[in-house]
Amino acid sequence: MKITSAEFVISNSRVDMCPQTGLPEYAFIGRSNVGKSSLINMLTNHSKLAMTSSTPGKTLLVNHFLINKEWYLVDLPGYGYAQRGKVMMEKIKKLIESYVLEREEMTCLFVLIDSRLEPQKIDLAFIEWLGENGVPFAIVFTKADKLNGSKLKANVNAFLEKLKEQWEELPPYFISSSEKKTGRDEILNYIEEINKS
Ligand code: GTP
Ligand code: MG
Repeated sequence: MKITSAEFVISNSRVDMCPQTGLPEYAFIGRSNVGKSSLINMLTNHSKLAMTSSTPGKTLLVNHFLINKEWYLVDLPGYGYAQRGKVMMEKIKKLIESYVLEREEMTCLFVLIDSRLEPQKIDLAFIEWLGENGVPFAIVFTKADKLNGSKLKANVNAFLEKLKEQWEELPPYFISSSEKKTGRDEILNYIEEINKS
C-alpha cells in the first residue's frame, strides 16, 4: 500500500476524549522502548511523526495519526516501565486497558516484542489477557537489525513456542527493523487487506 499522507491529529490522556471518527485504526503496544513510535515513523516514511527516545517512557498519551485520510495509526504508551513511579504506572495501565477494551475503532492491535530478548513474562501475560478479552491482534518482532539471522530465528521461534502453549492457532506475526525498513510492506499489506474486508 502506498502512503500518500500521514498527519498527527491529537494526543489524549483519556479514551473517551479520542476523536470519534468511525474510521478503522491500528494501534501499537508493547514494553516501553520496544520501538512502537519508531515503527509508526518507519511505516509512514516520516522520521519525526511520532516522538521517539532512547530512554523508555517517552510516549505517555494516546496519539492519533490520520493516514491517507482514510484510517488511523495509534501510538500508545508502553507497559512495564516502573521508573516513573507507581501512580504514573497505574495511570498508564488504566489508559492502555481502556483503549484496548473500549475503543470501538480499534481494528487490530499490533503487539511489539523485542526480538533480542528471550520470551518475557510481561508480554506473554499481556497477550493472554488479549485472548481472554477477544481482542484482535498481531505480533511484530522489533529491532531485527540488532542481531544475526540465526539468533533472530531462535528468539522468534522461542516466543512462538510459548504462544503455542496459550493458543491453538498462532496469530499473524511480522519481523521488523525500523532502521532497515524491514517488514514495512508486509505490515502495510496486512492493514490494507483488513481495510478492504
Ligand atoms: P515508549 O514510547 O517509551 O514506550 O517507547 P517506544 O516503544 O515508542 O520506543 P521508541 O520508538 O521511542 O524507540 C526506543 C529506542 O529504540 C530508540 O532509541 C529507537 O531509535 C530504538 N529503535 C526502535 N526501533 C528500532 C529498530 O528497529 N532498530 C534499532 N536498531 N533501534 C530501534
Ligand atoms: Mg513511544
